[in-house]
Amino acid sequence: MPSDLSPIDKAKFVAAKKATEFVQSGMKIGLGTGSTAAWLVQCLGELVRDEGLRIKGVPTSSRTAQLAREVGIEVISLDEAKWLDLTIDGTDEYDNNLNLIKGGGGAHLQEKIVATASDQMIVIADATKKVGTLGAFPLPVEVIPFGWQTSKTLIEETLIGMDVLGQTSTLRMNGDAPYVTDEGNHVLDLHLNRIGNARQLSLVLNQIPGVVENGLFIDICDKVIVGYGDGRVEVQDINAGEVEKTRFDFLDDGNLFSDDMQ
Ligand code: A5P
Repeated sequence: MPSDLSPIDKAKFVAAKKATEFVQSGMKIGLGTGSTAAWLVQCLGELVRDEGLRIKGVPTSSRTAQLAREVGIEVISLDEAKWLDLTIDGTDEYDNNLNLIKGGGGAHLQEKIVATASDQMIVIADATKKVGTLGAFPLPVEVIPFGWQTSKTLIEETLIGMDVLGQTSTLRMNGDAPYVTDEGNHVLDLHLNRIGNARQLSLVLNQIPGVVENGLFIDICDKVIVGYGDGRVEVQDINAGEVEKTRFDFLDDGNLFSDDMQ
């Protein structure tokens, strides 16, 4: 582990490192997408190489699949796995009920399928991802390319009747062309500012023709592991309702050790 990480990368790294404590040999693991999940994949790869951890990984994007293979994790498809012991993924926002906004990396469709097909979902995050109310981060909605402008209009008309503060949306771009997901779709980012009833919004959005999946994860996440730049880690468990506190110390040789802070 490089010792010259920025505070935000240290926060992501210690959250990912803590999450590996929930992984056991023989497990089938859903591997999330994004910069925090990339740390997780690297930490798991290290355990596979150096400590003989035996896991099978189901990646949630082509990017994660490539990284997982590079670090030596056996990659299988969700259809091969059928059901997973655990999914570990990042998030763009999480609230007190551990509901999430995901999809900033455009992978929320596969991420939601994989997390839902898991006994447990653990989210790893830095402290900037915690919010009182979801919605400051634009809500990603994956739409099929056919008639996407019509879907966009229908979404904006629907938002007028919803408990949200903004009603506009923008087509996500990749340079001069629309962004294309792993499934060949586009992403609309909904600028809502505040989502009063996330459960209702998620159900309503998925009824609109052309919408494939929205980035709200409601009642899917079981634990959030939040990391801080000074090495502190907190594990919040929705079922146990408790927060476990640990601290990782960064040693000169790049290794880590951890202490319980109870
Ligand atoms: C990918 O589509 C997203 O859901 C990511 O999980 C989310 O954007 C978090 O990414 P970072 O860990 O890079 O912030």
